[in-house]
Amino acid sequence: MKSVLIKNGSVVTATETMSADVLVRGSKVEAIVSSADALGLSADRVIDAAGMMVIPGGIDVHTHMELPFGGTLSADTFETGSRAAAWGGTTTMVDFAVQTKGESAMEGFEQWMAKAEGECAIDYGFHMITGDINEQTLKEMDMLVDEGVTSFKMFMAYPGVYYSDDGEIVRAMQKAAENGSVIAMHAENGIAIDVFVEQALARGETDPINHGLVRKSVLEGEATHRAIRLAEVTGAVLYIVHLSALEALDQVIKARDEGRNVFAETCPQYLFLDLEHLGGGFEGAKYVCSPPLRDRAAGHQERLWQGLRTDDLQVVSTDHCPFCMGDHHTFGTQKQLGRGNFAAIPNGIPGVENRMELIFDGGVSQGRISPNRFVEITATAPAKMFGLFPQKGTIAVGSDADIVLLDPTRTHTLSAATHHMDVDYSAYEGLEVTGKVETVMSKGKVIIENGRYLGSKGDGTYLRRGTTMMLR
Ligand code: URP
Ligand code: ZN
Ligand code: ZN
Repeated sequence: MKSVLIKNGSVVTATETMSADVLVRGSKVEAIVSSADALGLSADRVIDAAGMMVIPGGIDVHTHMELPFGGTLSADTFETGSRAAAWGGTTTMVDFAVQTKGESAMEGFEQWMAKAEGECAIDYGFHMITGDINEQTLKEMDMLVDEGVTSFKMFMAYPGVYYSDDGEIVRAMQKAAENGSVIAMHAENGIAIDVFVEQALARGETDPINHGLVRKSVLEGEATHRAIRLAEVTGAVLYIVHLSALEALDQVIKARDEGRNVFAETCPQYLFLDLEHLGGGFEGAKYVCSPPLRDRAAGHQERLWQGLRTDDLQVVSTDHCPFCMGDHHTFGTQKQLGRGNFAAIPNGIPGVENRMELIFDGGVSQGRISPNRFVEITATAPAKMFGLFPQKGTIAVGSDADIVLLDPTRTHTLSAATHHMDVDYSAYEGLEVTGKVETVMSKGKVIIENGRYLGSKGDGTYLRRGTTMMLR
């Protein structure tokens, strides 16, 4: 088995920072020592990590590759999206398989397995979007847990698409409480929002900015409250996805103070971008996602950073769901589907490649969080939340050698001209960030080095996940 020695770096985990050398053999970490030289350790290859932070590969637990949405498919395939993730220092992703109305969940899972098989640059798992809760689906939830799909996403938003009513949510939560899975909730009151959408369109308010105005933060707070209380009466573990609003965060804080098994993620777009990005005419379509970007002056953004600092928020994922502004070479018209009707703009923002560097910049470089907390929210907590730890999410003897060398001092500019996501714009165009992913190792194989991708599609394999390890 080939061995690699990563020398002279600063090894950062969620709990420790140490000057250490890491010996990798095959796909696993074999040893972490203060000095390989002193112990006479050698390897087939030595990587000098002087000046680098040596951190666990990122884990993005919220991506959508080829997601059917609004009459098109999200622009990245499993091949292009997972490769872009690798470029950005993410070595594991958990995507969403889809069950639509009238379909079997098991068949949905098999379709998504087939889409990803042999295509991915990094390891991957699946959550299941349960779009039709009935007796059959409830049985299939048990079967899916056996297949390593231990979390189910439900939508209080998007009536007529992925939406579930409170009764369906209660049934799914009862099942999740029974089989140990997690309910991942899109918490926005979609029924109320649709009334505001209809009224705005009737007034002729059709530009993307209206997407942000009708999807009020109070309605995210309300849905979050309802999801928490439904989890309380059913005993389910609840994970709020893509939390954007301080009203929602307040509900999560209250539930956690009550000692409940309630967890939440936020995403870089809510930490870096705001309502103003939705303005400027149709250009704002680039920033249409749900929940929407929030008003900076109202204080959402700083509260989210604070929530990450204080562990009221546990995870940063991307909700990577890119749609092109121009035609996509394979999937055709995307954001333009909503010209003249903001409600028809496919919802989603690209970001799988940017998450690690953005959070390092906004978090560590700008002094909001420690490097250890950075590792925790981007790798360790996601792994624990979704049953991947300690195989993933840390640098420890016996763990997968998913390792990133990050230069904490190197400044660079994010741009569509240099990114690898298959989408024709960057949501962070021109943003200068400090902290650069330089080298990426996945299961002991160096896949990014010296500005080159050295991996192959199919390097990434399916991860059969266990149940959550975050229970309180
Ligand atoms: O706008 C978003 N978030 N698109 C992806 C689907 C979802 O709700 O996560
Ligand atoms: Zn969602
Ligand atoms: Zn999503």
